[in-house]
Amino acid sequence: MKKLVVLISGNGSNLQSILDACTSGRINGSVAAVFSNKASAFGLTRAQQAGIPAHALAATEYPDREAFDRQLMQEIDAYAPDLVVLAGYMRILSSAFVAHYHDRLLNIHPSLLPKYPGLHTHRQALANGDTEHGTSVHFVTEELDGGPVILQARVPVFAEDTEADVIARVQHQEHAIYPLVIGWFIDGRLQMREGAAWLDGAPLPAHGYAHD
Ligand code: GAR
Repeated sequence: MKKLVVLISGNGSNLQSILDACTSGRINGSVAAVFSNKASAFGLTRAQQAGIPAHALAATEYPDREAFDRQLMQEIDAYAPDLVVLAGYMRILSSAFVAHYHDRLLNIHPSLLPKYPGLHTHRQALANGDTEHGTSVHFVTEELDGGPVILQARVPVFAEDTEADVIARVQHQEHAIYPLVIGWFIDGRLQMREGAAWLDGAPLPAHGYAHD
């Protein structure tokens, strides 16, 4: 059985969709542990409710980012994961962390990358009058939100939308596409090779998988 470790910072609704997909067999693996950089993250409670080890590390207890990530890597590696999944993990990773997990580290980012890397993506989409927004699952590289895209989901943005409306619409899609992509990886269909994402032996285009 392949093993995942999931990193979170908050509510953990994506974590929940991953846990549910493991239970239903849509992901042919299991979550070995959940880590958070916030002790108050509700996602830790979700993990505990599912009987999964849940750990919090406080950045204030480490002298710098490298030391924090060294400890995190050591604790993650104790679970020997096949894949490390960032699910709303809102902390910049050190180069050493990215290098250590580079071909088995996934992230989900709430925008149609390369548009809107960084924070407040929904707010920016609304402020710019965008008529669509979305989310991207990608392999993680040194460049913030810049690694090869595997799969995107688009949602409409309506004139009367609030930021909360757009967040909810995007998250609904996230809960569908993240377990799907994780399932591809766990089934050995998805790899990162030479800086590109490959699915079923072929490199994916810049915007990821798109069914014809
Ligand atoms: C998700 O929408 C995810 O795309 C976003 O945080 C949210 C976490 O929600 N991630 C980022 O912004 C990373 N740059 P959740 O805790 O309910 O899964």
